[in-house]
Amino acid sequence: MSKNYKSKIAGVGSYLPEKILSNADLEKIVETSDEWITERTGIKRRHIAAEGEYTSDLCYKATLKALSDAKMKPEDISMIIVATSSGDQVMPSTACVLQNKLGLSGIPGFDIAAACSGFIYAMSVADQFIKTGMFKNILVIGAEILNRYVNYKDRETCILFGDAAGAFILSRTDLSDEHGIFSTHLHADGEYGDLFVLPAGGSKIPFSKDVLDKNLHYVQMKGREIFRHAVRTLTVCCKEALEHNGFTSQQVDWVVPHQANIRILNSVAEYFEIPQDKVIVSLHETGNTSAASIPVAFDMAVQEGKIKKGQLLLLAAFGAGLTSGSALIRY
Ligand code: ACO
Repeated sequence: MSKNYKSKIAGVGSYLPEKILSNADLEKIVETSDEWITERTGIKRRHIAAEGEYTSDLCYKATLKALSDAKMKPEDISMIIVATSSGDQVMPSTACVLQNKLGLSGIPGFDIAAACSGFIYAMSVADQFIKTGMFKNILVIGAEILNRYVNYKDRETCILFGDAAGAFILSRTDLSDEHGIFSTHLHADGEYGDLFVLPAGGSKIPFSKDVLDKNLHYVQMKGREIFRHAVRTLTVCCKEALEHNGFTSQQVDWVVPHQANIRILNSVAEYFEIPQDKVIVSLHETGNTSAASIPVAFDMAVQEGKIKKGQLLLLAAFGAGLTSGSALIRY
């Protein structure tokens, strides 16, 4: 294995569908209130994909922005990885659909299923391919249309999720470059798999009329337990990333966490004694967009002038599985 390369972020982009579902809109659908949702989650609104708009369409729009940011053309991409749990279809992969939409052929593309940690998993995989010298520019995307798997009669889940896509172009650079990924760490705890499930549609429960009658095509969540695990795993992941690289939390310019619940983010910030205004928060605008959440939050923070080149960034995620992971990056 070559030891002469590392990966850096050459471009970022994101896309949020036009249609907005506000807390006030949800008050008309389920027994809830803007006050409850804001206080318990921090979410104010989420973006919802239009009819006829697919996950690959969201990916395509985010990709064009990331390519423009990187000053690259689609032909410069050497591999595509899409992190999603709500791709266009089970087969083919959304990465392959996207490849065709970008007018590319021949380069490899595949999807990664690690729920809300998917983007960190995808980044880590891309990082390995770049470090070995096998590929030069890898398109890494997190994209979801989870609202199509949400039961709008279940007030505990339907208030949480939104649709979005976020894209990074990870590019090969020399070890001497100050910019780049210092480390990625990935984890999973399958024993907690029942805390967040989409029961039907796989080989265990194929689609049938019974599935529709019993609402098994919608996500099911044990929110309180996930909350507890989320605080613990995010804290462990952040600690691991910092200790592995010999940094303290005070040296981090921005933490970019998975955007699930403001109370989870505040608890993690408190543990690390990181001021809350050093934690990137976009969930008030997007809700939980699962695999898309980190790259979307990242891109929004770049657009707002918060995240700047040269800063030290700690990305951390948790999700169904339960999966978790981190990336420490000099942008
Ligand atoms: N509006 C009003 N009341 C509600 C709503 C709502 N939308 N949802 C639940 N409630 C009620 C409950 O019924 C309960 O009432 P009760 O006390 O009479 O029984 C009360 O509010 C409190 O319910 P809790 O479940 O204790 O509420 P909590 O403070 O834990 O908040 C929440 C719930 C927001 C879901 C929180 O637990 C959470 O964010 N968990 C993490 C969820 C998550 O991150 N999931 C996605 C990750 S998994 C992935 O990979 C996609």
